[in-house]
Amino acid sequence: MKRRIFTIGVLLVCVLFSFAQGQVNWEQQAKGIWHVRAGYPEKMNLTSQLSLTPKITAINAMPAADLPLKKEDLKFEFRDGKTFIRFPLERDEKIYGLGLNFKTVEQRGRILRLHMDHYGGQDNGRTHAPVPFFVSSRGYGAFINSARYLDIYVGTSVRKDSKNPPKVYNRSRDKEWTAEPYSDNLEILVPAEGVDIVLFAGATMLDVVRRFNLYEGGGCLPPKWGLGFWQRVPVTYTDKDVMREVGEFSKKKFPLSVIGLEPGWMTGSYPCTYEWDKERFPNPLELTRSLQKQNIQTNVWINPGVSPLSTVYKSIEPYTSSHTEWCGVVPDYTMPEAVKIMSTHLKTNVLDSGVSGFKMDENDGFDNWLWPDIASFPSGHSAEQLRQIYGSLQQRFTTDMYRQQNMRTYGLVRASNAGSVSFPYVLYNDYYDHRDFITALVNSSFIGVLWTPEVRASKTSEEWLRRMQTVCFSPLAMLNAWSDGTKPWSFPDVENDVKAIADLRMQLIPYLYTAFADYTFYGTPPMRAMNLEPGFMAAATVETRKEDGTDNPYALALKKEMKDQFMVGDNLLIAPLFAGETSRKVVLPKGKWYDFYTGKLAGEGEVIIVTPGLSSIPVFVKDGGIIPMYAGNDGVDGSAHPLEIRHYGEKSASYELYDDDGITFNYEKGDYLRIPIKVSVDNKGKKSGAVSIPKGKKLWSFSNMSFRFMTE
Ligand code: GAL
Repeated sequence: MKRRIFTIGVLLVCVLFSFAQGQVNWEQQAKGIWHVRAGYPEKMNLTSQLSLTPKITAINAMPAADLPLKKEDLKFEFRDGKTFIRFPLERDEKIYGLGLNFKTVEQRGRILRLHMDHYGGQDNGRTHAPVPFFVSSRGYGAFINSARYLDIYVGTSVRKDSKNPPKVYNRSRDKEWTAEPYSDNLEILVPAEGVDIVLFAGATMLDVVRRFNLYEGGGCLPPKWGLGFWQRVPVTYTDKDVMREVGEFSKKKFPLSVIGLEPGWMTGSYPCTYEWDKERFPNPLELTRSLQKQNIQTNVWINPGVSPLSTVYKSIEPYTSSHTEWCGVVPDYTMPEAVKIMSTHLKTNVLDSGVSGFKMDENDGFDNWLWPDIASFPSGHSAEQLRQIYGSLQQRFTTDMYRQQNMRTYGLVRASNAGSVSFPYVLYNDYYDHRDFITALVNSSFIGVLWTPEVRASKTSEEWLRRMQTVCFSPLAMLNAWSDGTKPWSFPDVENDVKAIADLRMQLIPYLYTAFADYTFYGTPPMRAMNLEPGFMAAATVETRKEDGTDNPYALALKKEMKDQFMVGDNLLIAPLFAGETSRKVVLPKGKWYDFYTGKLAGEGEVIIVTPGLSSIPVFVKDGGIIPMYAGNDGVDGSAHPLEIRHYGEKSASYELYDDDGITFNYEKGDYLRIPIKVSVDNKGKKSGAVSIPKGKKLWSFSNMSFRFMTE
């Protein structure tokens, strides 16, 4: 009997001990993906409200990969109602991701509080996509699935029980003393009693990112028109102003696929009615129809606050927050009732008048604009959690509205987070630093979001053209003239060059659309960081012997963050220039690279200096790179066009061109084509190309195809 009491006592102590310690359970969810449940995670996290379907078949088709970590390397503590997580860091390990940063790409040495906000000029975690996902150069990634503000110490904290402690120096004697001693861990504070973590392995960092994207449902596939050129017009425009502007585009033969209407389309904005202002737009359906006849779609601006003057106010009010945004009530989109009411209102007023998509503004911050953290929401979810996921919720339900009509949409959003990769929305903001805009484009690729370095205004024609050149290689090529009323031709001395780059954007649509299909089917980001390019790190392994790195300048270049050049699809490397620059360094990864415009060899695993002149943006193509291009700038009109298939370099190559109807979700049922293209180079260097169109299949987008071998 005594013995039994003793055993029960021990058991009880064990149970209590493990309760205090919290449980950590590991479960493999797919090839190369593990779910770790630590402690008692909150029901609501970043993905719980989004009904995502992981693409397990695509994940399992990827090369197998193991985590470079052992279970016991990951440490958890549960104290004070909070969860503390610790990942080990190796000496040369680099950490990427952790939100949409604008100034830095590598995050080691930084302290971040991931907090949804409008970017305020500092990489401190307050940003439009504070995604708690990092990718390690060791070949793994971790997603901390919590909708709380998370504190992340990326190799900054030093523990007294560290396995690799920093050396202790004397500040008054040793030159080596530093205020930032070496840290061998990445620590995370989750202000909750537990958290769900998902770990992703990969043979390369790109594979880690692909797994992360596929796990959340795979990247979005925009309708083809979404990849054309967008013009947003000033707030006070009427339907006549819109038609006049469209007329100017057509007279100048400037491509135009989407017209964006800003707040003035509504009877009231800030707060919003989401109802047409009939003085400015007497017949919205007629307007959108006549635009569509010219292959132009309409996109409208909204923000979260519902105006007391809106006909939807009374029915939505019970499902809104205690606090308002610009005097408008804020729907709680975690409640199905709120989604239903607002979907019906937006369908009747917006979709039924032929609008193809939304720009969902001001769902990110600033603090004094949005609801404060002390606000309450009728679902009982906290204001903090709603802040972290509001943009994702809006993306979810508006995507569904179009899906119900079997129509794809493509739009803009200022707040996103983990779980939104499959939603067809691109981030933008009011910050306007060209260089930082490109760094954000690089960073977006680590964290499953899309970003546009939109063009609004410029001080000089040089800056105008440089900005246009980069936006045309981004997920959304847009001029946002909401306040400045600018037109692509606002600077006459560079008008032809601006038109040339917009035309090139349109010509590249077959290539861009294929890159997006790879995002959808394989999780590969269409625009991405050089660090995700497999050949990029390779040449750096050659030792640099001289101090100044001259015997391997490539290795030296890699020591710096790579934040001003990026990849588009598998074959194009883009190296923008910024106003004031006439030349720049370009780091060419391992293998040969060719000039996009001339087909000439540009370099091979080295750093080159280019002086391209103002008219063009430096673009390089990988050896064996195939680039399918349209001849004209009208590729999104829904009809088939001749295709020129360019080949660069000396290598034999293959490519799988993607095609579908460009507008519906029928591709999800298998109604699409992958068209194999092959270029063979014989031993005398003679090139020949072949396209295999699957028997009995019709092409949607291409008429006759021809090859052009760019490298003599
Ligand atoms: C801003 C937004 C701008 C423009 C403006 C209209 O918040 O970032 O792009 O839409 O609102 O009021």
